[in-house]
Amino acid sequence: MPTAFPRLAAALALAGACAAPALALEIDLPKETATLHAASGAQNAAQCYMCHSVDYISSQPPMPAGFWEAEVKKMVQTYGAPITAEQIPLIVRYLDEAYPPQKK
Ligand code: HEC
Repeated sequence: MPTAFPRLAAALALAGACAAPALALEIDLPKETATLHAASGAQNAAQCYMCHSVDYISSQPPMPAGFWEAEVKKMVQTYGAPITAEQIPLIVRYLDEAYPPQKK
């Protein structure tokens, strides 16, 4: 390979040859024990723990009506959760039933 920078090419080749092998680091994370509250449609909320634990849902205090809808939309619009527009009302219905909003 003709190159205008033979020293650079040699240095890069040498650097590549000397690169340390990636170390396999084992990290034992604690087992996930939290589960979604039982209620019909729980399977619809399966996407809700691809990014974070179910604890994010169950640790919320009782919130005003409309909270879960806003929350699911925030996960989609702000954080890019791959949840379709058709799935949103199914997930919201489940969350409203399983994690009921505050009674007035
Ligand atoms: C694409 C990744 C992703 C998915 C999927 C996702 N979330 Fe989140 N969620 C986040 C991030 C990021 C945060 C903010 C974390 C932080 O601030 O520590 C968050 C935070 C939360 C919180 C804490 C309150 C808040 O608003 O910060 C709740 C409740 C929550 N998510 C519920 C849900 C529900 C319900 C679903 C399913 C509809 C869901 N999440 C799916 C990324 C996601």
